[in-house]
Amino acid sequence: MAARIISGKDIAREIRDELNERVASLAKDGLVPGLATVLVGENPASRLYVGMKNKAAAEAGIHSRQVTLSESASETELLGVIHDLNTDPQIHGILVQLPLPRQIDESKVLLAIHPDKDVDGFHPVNVGRLATGDPNVLAPCTPRGVIEMLLRSGADPSGKHVVVVGRSNIVGKPMALLLLRKAAGGNATVTVAHSRTPDLGAITRTADILVVAVGWPNTVTRDMVKPGVTVIDVGTNRVDDPTRPRGYRVVGDVDFEGVSQVASAITPVPGGVGPMTIAMLLANTVEAAIRLGKAGG
Ligand code: GUN
Repeated sequence: MAARIISGKDIAREIRDELNERVASLAKDGLVPGLATVLVGENPASRLYVGMKNKAAAEAGIHSRQVTLSESASETELLGVIHDLNTDPQIHGILVQLPLPRQIDESKVLLAIHPDKDVDGFHPVNVGRLATGDPNVLAPCTPRGVIEMLLRSGADPSGKHVVVVGRSNIVGKPMALLLLRKAAGGNATVTVAHSRTPDLGAITRTADILVVAVGWPNTVTRDMVKPGVTVIDVGTNRVDDPTRPRGYRVVGDVDFEGVSQVASAITPVPGGVGPMTIAMLLANTVEAAIRLGKAGG
């Protein structure tokens, strides 16, 4: 049996249509959400992502501003930019694209962003709010997108055993915390596995829902999943493919062909989690704007 495809592209479109309406109604009340993206250096993938985020913001009616600093920018210069954005009343969301050049201390930069404007959800205050179950937290966009995909595709994690493979600060750890929350999209029993987990298959085979975010192709193969599992593949990996004009194709962390023969539902790559991340960034920006607007900020 071939698995049902959970299309992040379609679900993201649905969410973005809802956001368009919300932004239009806020505009009538004089509130235009504002997103600032900060790009430091020339990393081509980062440039592409930041460009996509700004374009999506503009399409939603969100005011967007990109600040671009050179590869050799100093930490002080970047902290100055963040300070200005923290105090700018037109800006409700600030995103500093990672990774940063090596002369800049990432943790200092994340700490400098005002927690109420931290639409990435990476500030330690927001990490703490997520860990303690604050319902109003700005949660990281990719794991938030995964929860939305599960809920909107009829795979509510409540009461299910969810295995998360990966323990990054951007995906694995916040994913586990969101799934544990006593709230819609949470209430799961959660196991976190990672690169040092021996016999990964023994763990992944116990999953009702499997979320894979390790950044390595074919980490999960057909023999490693239980029949009927729902699989969310967060990976985006470039693999050489001379048959493609660019010489490569993008694949996830899961062997899609094999696993989709056993799973009941699976996300594709591309067109799965990727579009959801951008949709949730817009959602976080709108939520931040509403809260800051109410606070008079
Ligand atoms: N680099 C890779 N993923 C992300 C993300 O979600 N946010 C930011 N700011 N940088 C990233």
